[in-house]
Amino acid sequence: MKVVQVNTGRPYKVLIGSNILADVGALVKEALSAKRLLIITDDIVNPLYGGIVAESLAKEGYEVEFFVIENGEQSKCLTVYGAILNYLADGSFTRKDAIVALGGGVVGDLAGFVAASYLRGIPFVQIPTTLLAQIDSSVGGKTAIDLDAGKNLVGAFWQPSLVVADTDTLNTLPQKEIENGLGELIKYGCLMGGEILTLLENDFTTDIERVVELAVSYKRDIVEEDEREGGVRRLLNLGHTVAHGIEKLSHYTYTHGRAVACGIVAIAKACLKEGKLNESDYNRLIALYDSYNLDYTTHYSMESIAEVAKVDKKAENKDINLVVMHAFGDCKVQKMALSDLEGYLL
Ligand SMILES: NC(=O)c1ccc[n+]([C@@H]2O[C@H](COP(=O)([O-])OP(=O)(O)OC[C@H]3O[C@@H](n4cnc5c(N)ncnc54)[C@H](O)[C@@H]3O)[C@@H](O)[C@H]2O)c1
Repeated sequence: MKVVQVNTGRPYKVLIGSNILADVGALVKEALSAKRLLIITDDIVNPLYGGIVAESLAKEGYEVEFFVIENGEQSKCLTVYGAILNYLADGSFTRKDAIVALGGGVVGDLAGFVAASYLRGIPFVQIPTTLLAQIDSSVGGKTAIDLDAGKNLVGAFWQPSLVVADTDTLNTLPQKEIENGLGELIKYGCLMGGEILTLLENDFTTDIERVVELAVSYKRDIVEEDEREGGVRRLLNLGHTVAHGIEKLSHYTYTHGRAVACGIVAIAKACLKEGKLNESDYNRLIALYDSYNLDYTTHYSMESIAEVAKVDKKAENKDINLVVMHAFGDCKVQKMALSDLEGYLL
């Protein structure tokens, strides 16, 4: 088992390994002194892993209850959030109790925000079961729900007390969700270069534990320096300005991972045109996407994508923090006028 220590305001460990769910009770016991635990999970993950997690926690003396949500982004909403808070209050959960988020990023974001806000904050444990959640969303303390006006508009920074990533859970993940996570994983390859890039170029599934450890360690370094995204944490948004535009224009029919792939390629193309990224790195990036059959093309024009960014950022002094790529392992945040974005991407 690999251990990544995260030293944010609340320090915690990220445990990464194969077949560790059966021991999750003992692992949680080392991190938490709670009595009652509410496992928040979804209707796909629960039949797969709810039983093994509950059994292991009960073996350590925890009183365990479940709140099962419908799977999918639509559950990251005020209605489901309110229903969970009422469940906790009606059941007299106290600050000595805790939340366990068992599932992908939807469950993690929602359960994390419940934990951040119920009784002004109770502890929570993340047990991520998607590639995206294991390499990214379960670490760093961003929690949120969506509003009709947009994604992640209400939330809090609230660090978990422990993250347990069992890489065996990825064996049941549908291919579409693997691709979704790969979009973010290749982003880490661009940001970091080095070993993770080599592992990605040689089929990342052969050493998935190491891949998760490397991505999490990178995010840990960034989050420790900038917990609330005032500076260096913005690097994690590589490709995301374009990706958000595409997701909105497509009414979220593009997976996030595919949209990020389109966004990174758009940025790489712009950097190539500027002479900041060399052709061999650009070709290496394209070859990487091709090797996983990840579609990085879009029929949406850069004009329409830049238009969405303008609408989204209207309050931010008409400047945008764009992450640019000068080489693998050399990405930078570049401030630019929103009015220049379209020309930059064309
Ligand atoms: N907090 C952050 O820092 C952060 C970062 C990136 C993304 N996010 C958020 O994460 C969310 C997306 O997360 P996601 O991609 O994990 O999607 P998800 O949570 O919707 O999971 C995708 C699908 O996979 C299913 N699933 C989960 N684990 C499974 C398993 N082991 N086997 C079979 N099926 C499984 C789920 O039921 C769901 O249908 C978005 O809401 C996004 O905003 C948050």
